[in-house]
Amino acid sequence: MSCADREHPENRNLITVAWAGTVNSEPPMVSISVMKKRYSHDLIARSGEFVINLTDEKMLWAADFCGVRSGRELDKAAAAGLTYRPAEKMMYAPAVEGTPLSLSCRVTRTMEMGSHDLFLAEVEAVQVRADLMDDKGTVHLEKAGLVAYSHGLYQRVGEVLGFFGWSVAREEVYRQRMAVVRPEQGYELKSARFLAKDILQAAVHAGDRVIDATMGNGHDTAFLCELVGPGGRVYAFDIQSQAVRNTAERLEKQGLSDRASLFQEGHEHMPERVKEPVAAAVFNLGWLPGADHRVTTRWETTKIALAGALELIRPGGILLVCAYPGHPEGDRERNEMIRFLSGLSNRKFNVLRQSFLNAGPGAPECFVVQKLH
Ligand SMILES: Cc1cc2nc3c(=O)[nH]c(=O)nc-3n(C[C@H](O)[C@H](O)[C@H](O)COP(=O)(O)O)c2cc1C
Ligand SMILES: C[S@@+](CC[C@H](N)C(=O)[O-])C[C@H]1O[C@@H](n2cnc3c(N)ncnc32)[C@H](O)[C@@H]1O
Repeated sequence: MSCADREHPENRNLITVAWAGTVNSEPPMVSISVMKKRYSHDLIARSGEFVINLTDEKMLWAADFCGVRSGRELDKAAAAGLTYRPAEKMMYAPAVEGTPLSLSCRVTRTMEMGSHDLFLAEVEAVQVRADLMDDKGTVHLEKAGLVAYSHGLYQRVGEVLGFFGWSVAREEVYRQRMAVVRPEQGYELKSARFLAKDILQAAVHAGDRVIDATMGNGHDTAFLCELVGPGGRVYAFDIQSQAVRNTAERLEKQGLSDRASLFQEGHEHMPERVKEPVAAAVFNLGWLPGADHRVTTRWETTKIALAGALELIRPGGILLVCAYPGHPEGDRERNEMIRFLSGLSNRKFNVLRQSFLNAGPGAPECFVVQKLH
């Protein structure tokens, strides 16, 4: 929530508020409960304004920070890397740039409840981030990656389970609506890489450390950054400057740069760079799509890197390798890898090989190793 001082509107502040909710629809009204001793309390009381900024995963670190430090001591927005923008209909209170949705609120009544004062307010404007609206102007908050606060924990707002009135909706209406809000509903065994994503999603959690051993164009690095969340870290390697550049650009665009360390270095140097246990290491072998096909991963260095990764992976963690046997070096790498992975002790590792038997000889294959202890 953002607010500002009536006398000195340049003094703006952010406060994290969980005791908040919708209380009326005509006129649209919300309430927030704020302790008297908070710096924000007087700013809101004097200006009669506040702006609710919904929090997504990218803003989560900042949201927590703004809930444990006071605006009396520091400029929280600057410290948390957030910027303000003007909020529609507000004279004083700003909104936070990049928030999925902001509500400009004007206080109509204040009630002393005991520990907190409850500010009742009318919502005078709603601003939605452009990428969350479709061409018909419908808001898709389900795509915002919102974070909920529940009993001391921040949790992802997850899978769509239904919609308002679904219990009485006709079947075709139900199907149509669900296809829009949950398009990934149908599960398709598309490719080895598709399965790999599912495995990673199950194995990697918020706050984890992981390795992307072959950055390439950064698709996997970005995906891993999403999985580890703002408190996690992705260590990514590639020998080509073009790969590091493409990955850095992708992360920048998606606002994920601060979750990754990118090394223009062979993955065989991984143990020199990564000094903590990781939840997963991902190898997507072969060449950089769109670049020189002669620059490809080679078994001699892949083998060293795989051994390094197996050391770094924590118990229960996952090594995932996608191999492309459609070219001579890829074929050699795949065959050597099968030999290498088959030799791992079954007391220490589970080793799985996945391939599509009817997809032709060059189809990618995925190998999954889980470290047992
Ligand atoms: C997740 C979370 C939820 C919070 N909810 C509230 C709330 O509903 N009301 C409140 O007065 N303080 C709440 N706080 C505490 C304030 O955000 C915190 O005291 C903050 O430092 C006050 O900032 P200020 O002094 O700059 O106003 C919450 C903190 C966190 C981390
Ligand atoms: C198939 S691409 C990776 C695709 C990438 N994961 C993505 O999501 O776009 C393989 C990459 O491995 C890189 N590579 C080759 N040898 C390497 C090595 N020794 N260490 C790290 N990366 C290497 C290549 O430069 C290439 O960019």
